[in-house]
Amino acid sequence: MSTLSQRPDNPVVGEAMPHESAALHVTGRALYTDDLVQRTQDCLHAHPVQARHAHARVTRLDPTPAYAVPGVVKVLTAADVPGTNDAGIKHDEPLFPSEVMYHGHAVCWVLGETLEAARRGAAAVEVDYDPLPAILTVEEAIAAESFQGARPTVARGDAAASLARSAHVFEGVTAMAGQEHFYLETHCSLALVDENGQVFVQSSTQHPTETQEIVAHVLGVPSNAVTVQCLRMGGGFGGKEMQPHGLAAVAALGSTLTGRPVRLRLSRTQDMTMTGKRHGFHATWKVGFDEGGLLTALEATLTSDGGWSLDLSEPVLSRALCHVDNAYWIPDVLVHGRIAQTNKTSQTAFRGFGGPQGMLVIEDIIGRCAPLLGLDPADVRRRNFYVDGQSAPYGQAVRHPERLAAAWDQVSAIAGLDARRAEVAAWNDAHEHRKRGLAITPVKFGISFNFTTFNQAGALVHVYKDGSVLINHGGTEMGQGLHTKMLQVAATALGLPLPKVRLAPTRTDKVPNTSATAASAATDLNGAAIKNACEQIQERLVPVRAGLPDASWDELVAAAYHQRVQLWAAGFYKTEGLSWDVTTMTGTPFKYFSYGAAVAEVEVDGFTGGYTTRRVDIVHDVGDSLSPLVDLGQIEGGFVQGAGWLTLEDLRWDESDGPGRGRLTTQAASTYKLPSFSEMPTVFNVALLEHAHEDGAVYGSKAVGEPPLMLAFSVREALRDACAAFGAPGTSVELASPATPEAVYWALERVRSRAPAEVTA
Ligand code: MTE
Ligand code: MOS
Repeated sequence: MSTLSQRPDNPVVGEAMPHESAALHVTGRALYTDDLVQRTQDCLHAHPVQARHAHARVTRLDPTPAYAVPGVVKVLTAADVPGTNDAGIKHDEPLFPSEVMYHGHAVCWVLGETLEAARRGAAAVEVDYDPLPAILTVEEAIAAESFQGARPTVARGDAAASLARSAHVFEGVTAMAGQEHFYLETHCSLALVDENGQVFVQSSTQHPTETQEIVAHVLGVPSNAVTVQCLRMGGGFGGKEMQPHGLAAVAALGSTLTGRPVRLRLSRTQDMTMTGKRHGFHATWKVGFDEGGLLTALEATLTSDGGWSLDLSEPVLSRALCHVDNAYWIPDVLVHGRIAQTNKTSQTAFRGFGGPQGMLVIEDIIGRCAPLLGLDPADVRRRNFYVDGQSAPYGQAVRHPERLAAAWDQVSAIAGLDARRAEVAAWNDAHEHRKRGLAITPVKFGISFNFTTFNQAGALVHVYKDGSVLINHGGTEMGQGLHTKMLQVAATALGLPLPKVRLAPTRTDKVPNTSATAASAATDLNGAAIKNACEQIQERLVPVRAGLPDASWDELVAAAYHQRVQLWAAGFYKTEGLSWDVTTMTGTPFKYFSYGAAVAEVEVDGFTGGYTTRRVDIVHDVGDSLSPLVDLGQIEGGFVQGAGWLTLEDLRWDESDGPGRGRLTTQAASTYKLPSFSEMPTVFNVALLEHAHEDGAVYGSKAVGEPPLMLAFSVREALRDACAAFGAPGTSVELASPATPEAVYWALERVRSRAPAEVTA
């Protein structure tokens, strides 16, 4: 066992405790960025001027009329930018654009004494546009060859030759929609400038360092002139990994020009119409199976809908390509990826970061092909699992695949899968117009940033003279419980009870050069950095302790101070053993894989396509849990968010040729259906996989933030199973994603009319 994994006696890690801010969350006392505005004197409010064209050239922009509106202080335009007029790390996102790239694109911003004054000022700004043709769907982009960024390929063996030899070959198309993050707290930044010109931005950001860098670029100042702080977020889900930067830059620019604090907070509709979402994907595929139902080869082309600029589309696509195998050994693979450029918001990170989209392709393939092979989809899944000694298509060895099998077997037993299959069949025989469906699906998800460089983290641990401890680290809190785990790690590493340790807000002037809190890796990275800092302090205390064997911690610390021992430390961690070659798309990008399995049962109404989720059972692998309640919350929340993506949440853009072309028509909770109580499984059991200690990770724990989202494939496959029950045995069901009641209805119509499925033998 490595030192990173070993747990001391009586560790604080592993204790089931509530989220460190739970009491504040539920009593409404937790502060978010916008709450700080009330504590800020003299604040100005920012409002965007949003274009009503999907694609157009700005031919004239006249801010003068806005200044006639009472309370308008300043209209920010491209002419005001002292540094670089760009908000993207790919330099393809003009902050004040001369070309409108999507419906709702902000062409300039108005600062007012009140939000209402800024809004009225924005309405008064005169802008003329020269409309241009707009591309809205992936299909249109493919036809027009409108692509952006790299076009990577993951390849192993000779897929074409393997397909030619395969006993069964199927072809098809799998299309899936994106997803709105719908974090409860919309994007928000509050910028201040001090008497020295030092800029301080409080931002709801998952990536304070990058927010700092973009603000500095826009202002034309070095990074040390900008500090970014994130107290906590009311949810990020990937939507605040890159999207906050430009908004923070607008606030910071406004503040430097006016000398006053500037608050920029998006309304829900602004947030939905301006910021990026999960990428929808379109995949064409050709798959081979042998006589025994084993996968032989996969050829596929995945096209993501990137929206107007690159943002994180390239790494999202990489992760999608690295997850098309999900849990299955596919000997020969040829998978191409490309990013469509469309006139929509710039799609971005969203829990799973492309992994879910890649995995959905293979799950859809198995769900559609198993009946054509005359096999039960659960059998096809199980018999294709990786076994020890095999590697993923990009070359990484799949370690501990037996844990996946264990999760699968355990959840089958907990769910009583075999008995319930018979029950469901009997129930379906007795009911003509309602049918139940049952499915089990696996998850294998790679942990670490694909891009090796990002797998580093820093921490700052202070032990004060009185023995109290204050920790800082580079990760951000968005509800996922990172800070709770970090407090537990510090207390464990210092051998202290939890109340001895406090945590300070995440700030770029405390821990610099941080990676985004993303890829589910924040605990692995920041936890190891905190542990490293604590161990340095412990090391320095060894000689002091030798002279005072019976001293309490407080006495020990006081003595150490008198002996002039440094009582604080900066910790650092980098994940060892990683490699990734972006050109060949090969290497060992992941420290380890997270595993899980879920069983879902649904009931579908044959007249309407409406359905309920009757029961869900989950067994998920979090290693040795650092914080079991936090982990259970992540599993439940991730699963529900995945079920929302796959079955309910239906983003719609106006695809007509009318004047509203390109407008997002689902702009609020009234038109965008989110999971709520009525969509929860009636019975919902979540268990952690036992004996899952992960050697080399922080106290044997594993990441949990994203992988459980993909357990929701079980719901989609259960819906497919229920639809099939309306047809003849062996019916292959095509189901749209999201499988909304409407989509289920149309799937049923195809089943009932026996229209030939798109999958053909
Ligand atoms: N859980 C909550 N409550 N809120 C969030 O915004 N984001 C998810 C996940 N769980 C999120 C969440 C995403 S996208 C990621 S990458 C991880 O948390 C990030 O945090 P971690 O690395 O600490 O798991
Ligand atoms: Mo999560 S999509 O990696 O922020």
